Amino acid sequence: MTDHAIISETLLCEIKDQIATVTINRPQVLNALSIQVFTDLEHVFTQLAKDPDVRVILLTGAGEKAFAAGADIKELVETTRITGQSLSRRGHRIFRQIETCGKPVLALINGFALGGGCELALACTLRIAADSAKLGQPEARLGLIPGYGGTQRLPRLIGQSAALKLLLTGERIDAAEALRLGLVDEVVPLAELYLRGQQLASSILAMAPLAVAGCLEAVYKGADRDLDSALGIESRIFGRLSATADKAEGIRAFLEKHTPIWTGK
Ligand code: CAA
Repeated sequence: MTDHAIISETLLCEIKDQIATVTINRPQVLNALSIQVFTDLEHVFTQLAKDPDVRVILLTGAGEKAFAAGADIKELVETTRITGQSLSRRGHRIFRQIETCGKPVLALINGFALGGGCELALACTLRIAADSAKLGQPEARLGLIPGYGGTQRLPRLIGQSAALKLLLTGERIDAAEALRLGLVDEVVPLAELYLRGQQLASSILAMAPLAVAGCLEAVYKGADRDLDSALGIESRIFGRLSATADKAEGIRAFLEKHTPIWTGK
């Protein structure tokens, strides 16, 4: 396994000990998600998805003020019906790519996660917030709605009523309220955010790689199906994993009381 970096214009991406840390690096504009950020996210996540040295991805924003303060508002000035729709579609495609990359993506929300920034966090597998974080969907104040999945992922995560409250009021909520709503999974002091991300990543790394991928596949593929067909997906993945070398290793390690050594096979 080798430590390395992926170079792009607006993102920092370092890979160390099977954990990739991706940092949106536009702190001067609170890590606003420009068209170039999307291009770089697409490139970096394409590489990370197929990189055998990467098993968990941490996603955060540069500086102490923002995860991402939304779409780059300067790029919204001239949008038309056609270009607005295609901007939204491109955002959907790239956030969906992040959501379905096959590896857990942990959003480390180190400050503002507003508009598209909140939507980016919603497309991640888990959300850990610094106690200083502020989240919200203020698009209606700009005469818009969320265009990167917020109207769909937010109600699925926190319920329709709580989601509509955030969408209709544009209210910015703090980390404690986000935790209460289930919008984030944990809140930690800002200084401990990265450490907590690494701890969670280490817990995931201790699990069998194919089983981690199987959990993601079962949950995401089953999410919008009726229960019977979703249970069918679960059985197929359970069956597939039952025939793997790592399942034999996991069971043997438990019975013989030693730590399993995974081969990813
Ligand atoms: N796009 C572009 N630039 C942004 C930005 C954004 N989303 N958010 C902040 N910036 C810029 C500011 O313009 C400012 O730049 P200058 O120094 O050149 O003036 C710099 O970042 C620092 O920001 P502020 O001076 O505003 O910092 P603040 O601490 O006073 O306020 C804030 C922080 C409350 C987050 C405020 O910046 C803000 O309200 N930002 C916009 C949030 C927003 O509306 N996001 C939704 C965007 S629309 C969207 O995301 C659509 C979609 O779903 C597809």
